[in-house]
Amino acid sequence: MSGFQIRDAGPADTLALSEALVEAANWNSNRIEPRVNVLSHPVRSRYVAGWPRPGDGGLVAETPEGEVIGAAWYRLMSADRPGFGYVTAGVPELTLGVRPMWRARGVGRALLQGLLRKAAESGHARISLSVEHGNFAQRLYRSEGFTVLSSGETSDVMVRSLN
Ligand SMILES: CC(C)(COP(=O)(O)OP(=O)(O)OC[C@H]1O[C@@H](n2cnc3c(N)ncnc32)[C@H](O)[C@@H]1OP(=O)(O)O)[C@@H](O)C(=O)NCCC(=O)NCCS
Repeated sequence: MSGFQIRDAGPADTLALSEALVEAANWNSNRIEPRVNVLSHPVRSRYVAGWPRPGDGGLVAETPEGEVIGAAWYRLMSADRPGFGYVTAGVPELTLGVRPMWRARGVGRALLQGLLRKAAESGHARISLSVEHGNFAQRLYRSEGFTVLSSGETSDVMVRSLN
């Protein structure tokens, strides 16, 4: 890891998480959704609304000058207000996004590995996510131990044991 550092995401990091959420929603440059649409989307908005709640955890990557370049976090969702990668109550759902200029420099993997450690230390037994077909991020997730739990028309739900 070089040129960036990783710290815990706190209550003041809603904006950092929102930016990363927009990056995650817009992974496909042929299909860009305006920021305002992503953040007001009925399901997507659940990934940041009311951050943080008990059971949530997150990390922010930033430059030595404190400029945010990416974030990864997990949230506990509920069956009546699930995320796209909802598995069951008590399994938090992960989101990951890195600013385009900073991609392919190890930031995403460092955030992911750090977040998996954090989730395990916090006592979570499993973690899940949703990834659309065609997103190379799926290879990153597989290489960090995630497996496909269910495959839909446009996306897969992946899970990883934290034991
Ligand atoms: C997915 C994402 C978080 C990865 O972050 P990153 O900082 O670029 O990733 P890293 O540099 O740590 O690279 C992780 C792996 O992905 C590979 N990778 C990076 N960029 C790639 C690209 N454009 N195409 C294919 N593979 C790529 C790397 O080779 C690396 O594997 P390696 O360690 O075996 O070399 C980032 O690209 C991103 O924000 N994408 C848009 C948002 C998104 O898709 N989020 C996930 C939604 S489920």
